Amino acid sequence: MTLDVLVLGDLNPDLVLTGDVVPRFGQAEQLLTGADLLIGGSGAIAAHGLARLGVAVALVAEVGEDGFGRDMLARIAGAGVDVSRVRRSADRTTGLSVVLSDGAARSTLTYLGTIDADPPAWTRPDDIPPARWLHVSSVYLQPRLAAELPRLLGLARAAGLRISMDTNLDPAGRFAGLAELLPLLDLLLPNAGEALAMAASLGALTDDLAQAALGLAAHGPVVVVKNGADGALLARADGSVVVHGGRAIEPVDTTGAGDSFDAGYLAAVLAGHPEVTALAWADAAGRLATRALGGTAAQPTREELLAELTDHAARSGRA
Ligand SMILES: Nc1ncnc2c1ncn2[C@@H]1O[C@H](COP(=O)(O)OP(=O)(O)OP(=O)(O)O)[C@@H](O)[C@H]1O
Ligand SMILES: [Mg+2]
Repeated sequence: MTLDVLVLGDLNPDLVLTGDVVPRFGQAEQLLTGADLLIGGSGAIAAHGLARLGVAVALVAEVGEDGFGRDMLARIAGAGVDVSRVRRSADRTTGLSVVLSDGAARSTLTYLGTIDADPPAWTRPDDIPPARWLHVSSVYLQPRLAAELPRLLGLARAAGLRISMDTNLDPAGRFAGLAELLPLLDLLLPNAGEALAMAASLGALTDDLAQAALGLAAHGPVVVVKNGADGALLARADGSVVVHGGRAIEPVDTTGAGDSFDAGYLAAVLAGHPEVTALAWADAAGRLATRALGGTAAQPTREELLAELTDHAARSGRA
């Protein structure tokens, strides 16, 4: 069966601790108000969001032969993601993020483990599972994958897949290798901070989001920048820009909103909709995902997303 989307990314639990979370070392024991073990990993959250929207999606990732790995696999498989290409590593443990949240600010402690996965063993275009689209996420948490990415994306292009990438933040802040990757992409999906930092890494120093997006789009891909409660904007290599105003809500938790946004955008494009419609789907998918703790719990089904768009249109009409 031909898949709609192949997601190449990361799958790990996020252990979200809430309350009095600032550690006091020296034999102290602090009692917390909450502990939630949630599906984490940008790739896994995007794949989960696509499955919720009824898109046929498989995740290419790695977990360890341990309880965390088994739990994560069972949960995303239960949501409809094809996990047959998730590798189970015998010699690495499943990566883990511990998220300390005091209600206002958060700090994340990450053990990479299997997040820094072995790259897929693709050597010819025929090795790539038949799919319409390849979405790549979190490359700067996956240095071994990043090193192989130009070659792997070249194979995917030769196999006829369209390609999107959401790098997320580069912890080193340099976005190394970006100039080589951009021409291989159809679509780049940074958030606002990432777009400015990426443009700066390519020599385009600006604090204007549209200028930064245009600077990136000049290297080839359509660039869609996520801008939190302000919505999103799209820039093309021909110099055109489309701005999509958001509808600010009071979020419960914005973790994974960007990956849910990506899922909404791809679902619309794969359904044959034009870019402006894809922006509206993406924004609604991102907004709805902020209604619950973690990235996946409040991701919309296609029916919920279409209802949200109808509601948004009605409110705009009344305004
Ligand atoms: N407070 C909010 N109100 C309405 N929509 C929001 C809000 N926060 C986020 N969104 C929606 O989610 C999208 C993605 O948010 P954001 O810009 O935080 O992405 P991100 O930083 O990539 O997130 P991630 O944590 O997944 O990497 C926004 O473009 C918007 O559509
Ligand atoms: Mg993001």
